[in-house]
Amino acid sequence: MQLLAVLGLYSTVALSFQATDTARVSSPDGRIVVLAEVRQGKFFYSVTRDKRDIIFPSQLGFEFRGAPTLRDNLRVVQTARNTVDQTWTQPWGEVARVRDRHHELRISLQETTSTARRFNVIFRVFNDGLGFRYDVPAQPNLNDFEIQEELTEFSFADDARAWWIPSNRPRMDRSEMLYSNSPLSLLDSVQTPLTMETRDLRNAIVIHEADLVDYPRMFLAGRQRMENRTFRAALAPWKDGVKVRGRTPFKTPWRTIQLADRAADLAPSVLGLNLNPPSVIASTDWIKPMKYVGIWWGMHINTMTWGSGPKHGATTENTKRYIDFAAANGFGGVLVEGWNTGWDGDWIANRDAFSFTQPYPDYDLQGLAAYARQKGVKIIAHNETSGGIENYERQMEAAYALYRSLGINAIKSGYVTDTLAGGHSHYGQFAVRHHRKAIETAAKYGIMLDVHEPIHDTGERRTFPNMMTREGSRGQEYNAWGGEGGNPPEHETILFFTRMLTGPMDFTPGIFDILIKRPTGTARKPHEARVRTTLAKQLALYVVLYSPLQMAADEIQNYENQPAFKFIRDVAVDWEQTRVVDARIGDYVIVARQQRSSDDWFVGAITDEEARSFDVALSFLPAGRNYVAEIYADGPQAHWLDNPLPVAITQQNVNSTSRLTVKLAPGGGQAIRLRAVR
Ligand code: NOJ
Ligand code: CA
Repeated sequence: MQLLAVLGLYSTVALSFQATDTARVSSPDGRIVVLAEVRQGKFFYSVTRDKRDIIFPSQLGFEFRGAPTLRDNLRVVQTARNTVDQTWTQPWGEVARVRDRHHELRISLQETTSTARRFNVIFRVFNDGLGFRYDVPAQPNLNDFEIQEELTEFSFADDARAWWIPSNRPRMDRSEMLYSNSPLSLLDSVQTPLTMETRDLRNAIVIHEADLVDYPRMFLAGRQRMENRTFRAALAPWKDGVKVRGRTPFKTPWRTIQLADRAADLAPSVLGLNLNPPSVIASTDWIKPMKYVGIWWGMHINTMTWGSGPKHGATTENTKRYIDFAAANGFGGVLVEGWNTGWDGDWIANRDAFSFTQPYPDYDLQGLAAYARQKGVKIIAHNETSGGIENYERQMEAAYALYRSLGINAIKSGYVTDTLAGGHSHYGQFAVRHHRKAIETAAKYGIMLDVHEPIHDTGERRTFPNMMTREGSRGQEYNAWGGEGGNPPEHETILFFTRMLTGPMDFTPGIFDILIKRPTGTARKPHEARVRTTLAKQLALYVVLYSPLQMAADEIQNYENQPAFKFIRDVAVDWEQTRVVDARIGDYVIVARQQRSSDDWFVGAITDEEARSFDVALSFLPAGRNYVAEIYADGPQAHWLDNPLPVAITQQNVNSTSRLTVKLAPGGGQAIRLRAVR
């Protein structure tokens, strides 16, 4: 049951109903100021922080198909204000409690021409940034509509350094790419979240969106005007180029601008959560973060197959082995991929062949479900759709009902394909509707979701806490494939400041066989496919990369007789609070997290290809309490390239006044459990 603890006051102060053409709204601490104004009939917003320009005047509006553009000849007809200060509790999360403290300004605009169309723009300004959205009421001259372009601009005052992945590469309707960084004036079309640091290093800025329900995903198109520092919202289209189909009344998602003094202060990010509606799931007792193992990595390194044959991974016998291992080691779940028919042949091309209820003959669906129940382990059902949305939706109710009847309460879904069946974009309104339907149907059947090849996270988990985690970035799997070069050692130190600011990621850490001893007879070249971290860094990723469903991704035999595996068994998956101890984008991250409803803390430290040493104060621990630090450090001469395996495991008595020297090898990491002494 989700607790909504209203600690503060909720006051509605509607005032200034005079038709002023400029209005200001500031954050509760006064540092961020948004100015909204109509100039020569056009509506602009601008943003300052500590009186420094962040966003220069930027226009808003819509271009429609079959109707005139809504942007010009506007006047302000009304403004209204609101103040909110309340704290709410997450059923699970990177932090337990979230304070929603903001000032709201609502501006009602109307055309002065005969069409007299109306819309509102709502700004909510928090201490950590702001969101704004369009809210268009029902009206005679704006009823059914087709939006051709959303004209929202972001005109950046500074040519800040941006960390980005592109959004307009051919056949690249996906987010699984490596990040680059460059001055933002060089960017053409990029995905959000877009993370930036201003050149004076006084501001870190993140552009993203929140509460995406029935609208396309937003990208940013650069080089519009203003010395190439103006970006425009670019929406993923329907096949005919129309971006949004709808009818008034409607609301767009929030366009968000997160702001902090330094990049290290961006995490944990709660701006997007605060801009989503509260949970609609009355009882969330069944929604439980957990660690899981699975029949998975073997398919990626070629020791197993999804489809039938001698190497079929999802056999009854193999699944039992994984269930036994999970039960023996305290893991909550076992993911089974390749259990259902449809994988034989080219599974990406044959997408409509997938059944989501019919097991392969060598997989005893009922028997294994009973076996798992008896062992206290949950099977995680796998639903790869290959983008066959209709095929999946046709079977969805029956499949989810079947899983529920078997005691299966989690699904990992997938959308591997360049373009969804029917020629739809992965990110258009059609796809957004599909994902929402999956979340709602899963909620109805008491099922948690882990979505691969998803639409980016816009905070859905607040409203639907069964929307646990997703991929939507380059995960561990890229290390298995070779060919594409895998993930470089700096990868996760960028993810932390980009993808991870939007929400949990099913990165699948925990590969112990770093050099991937492949079975003989595969075509892969040695050292092409391997993990580019030390083993200790694999442990640290459990703390650094947040996910409420967190996998121990390697084949289970690789954990046997490995003392370092104890850290994966012990590490928490649900957090009371999160503190970034120190971090720099693309270089290193040190994060400390307190386990939910516990006094124990965990620390994860990771570096890029450079060795680093830190003096970490444990001042985040409660004063006067004694702890045992269980330290998993890079061993002597460890190096991601040629000596990734040594892990030095030591113990030390510590308290809040202690300092630890944290030494990281090139491509290395360190994981620490801080166990409260009882
Ligand atoms: C891509 C996913 O990221 C991966 O985890 C999964 O095994 C394959 N698709 C097959 O569904
Ligand atoms: Ca993937």
